[in-house]
Amino acid sequence: MKISVIGCGYLGAVHAASMAQLGHDVIGIDVDRAKIDSLSQGKAPFFEPDLPELLIAGIEAGSLRFSSDMADVAGSVVHFVAVGTPQQKSGTGADLSYVDAAIEGLLPHLAPGDLVVGKSTVPVGTAERLAAIIEPTGAQLAWNPEFLREGYAVKDTISPDRLVYGVRREDPSASVASLPPASGGGGASRQEARRAVAILNEVYAQAIAADTPLVVTDYATSELVKVAANAFLATKISFINAMAEIAEVAGADVTELADAIGYDARIGRKFLNAGVGFGGGCLPKDIRAFTARAEELGRGESVAFLKEVDAINLRRRDRVVELVVDALGGSAFQKKVAVLGLAFKPNSDDIRDSPALDVAVRLHGLGAHVVATDPEAIANSKLKHPQLAFGSTAEALKGADIVVVVTEWNEYRSLDPVELASVVDGTIVVDGRNCLDVAAWRGAGWRYIGLGRR
Ligand code: UDX
Repeated sequence: MKISVIGCGYLGAVHAASMAQLGHDVIGIDVDRAKIDSLSQGKAPFFEPDLPELLIAGIEAGSLRFSSDMADVAGSVVHFVAVGTPQQKSGTGADLSYVDAAIEGLLPHLAPGDLVVGKSTVPVGTAERLAAIIEPTGAQLAWNPEFLREGYAVKDTISPDRLVYGVRREDPSASVASLPPASGGGGASRQEARRAVAILNEVYAQAIAADTPLVVTDYATSELVKVAANAFLATKISFINAMAEIAEVAGADVTELADAIGYDARIGRKFLNAGVGFGGGCLPKDIRAFTARAEELGRGESVAFLKEVDAINLRRRDRVVELVVDALGGSAFQKKVAVLGLAFKPNSDDIRDSPALDVAVRLHGLGAHVVATDPEAIANSKLKHPQLAFGSTAEALKGADIVVVVTEWNEYRSLDPVELASVVDGTIVVDGRNCLDVAAWRGAGWRYIGLGRR
């Protein structure tokens, strides 16, 4: 199919390259010329495993192009809108200006029969509003949220664990099967909905053939699915971090607790890793935007717990800093602190709302001589916080009074505590991700401090 992808940030660039990989003819559009130049040369503007290979393959095959001219969407029948919806500068709601600009830019180029597919995470009600703007052109709108995880973005796009299509439904209670075929009766908008489903099934033919679960629903539900999923994940992490807070005062061990409750299939062990908490470009801003939207809808109390989820999450950063200061005898001033990790999670160079970077900045603010390191995120961190000192793992560790692990990259997990003991000045480690082998580190003479650990 001929596909355009508006917005070539994290989501859009991965989506465009993955669509080309699936055999479609794709044009990616972005207003940022530097990004377009980089992508056109097959260079990913951010770190994401498998993306560079896909970009090069698509460009060489001629099935993937990038442009900063919206007019180049001409000829495409499916237009994915994959622009960012960051937190508003002056509030906690989502900033929809990029979505609105994308739709406005797209409108003059839409042809009757085209399908605009929203992928951005938006407050519930946005699709309905946009559909009213799009439909007069003869095109129609579907909402198709993405659930990709950074670090696995390509895999999650090509082989998603589920597909959700939000389509215009006259009768939201009608099942997909009850939607009439495109040529059948049932009212114009039901036929349109049927057609949208058929087009998306063609786009995702490979996933559909692999029996990927598909939920076809109305706009509002599809928008809510995304924020509800992220709210649930954030709540799960903050739940275990709240247990870590209790474990700390009760002398219990949160990882053993997580293992034990995780064996209950209804609970599950995933996303029960206590530590410095969640960050990134999605979970933090999505729970805040969800709360703001629920308040607008007069149902703030329904998700008021998400404020607590946010608060627990932010407290974990304070706790890591507190543990470091305590371990250093009450002051970090002029102490050399090796901060291992800056990205919000491993296999990413993303530092948006990163707890790791936040901890480094706070320790620096307390007068510590912080040397921070990360396999991929130093360049981004330097731009945002040039006041910090950055170096290789060896440079960070040399002569350090304390080691703080805040992103669980494999290379930090596999550090040899015996070898390291001879490099540092102080054999104290704060494991902000509970990712190190406690017995090995203690066995090598280290004072090991985890979060919510005995
Ligand atoms: C998330 C959702 O998982 C994804 O479905 C959605 O599309 C976008 O938002 P992502 O931001 O890539 O994806 O990160 P994710 O893997 O969910 O991790 C989010 C944060 O939670 C990271 O900072 C991670 O370190 C933290 N986390 C995760 C924990 O602290 N403990 C856990 O047990 C799991």
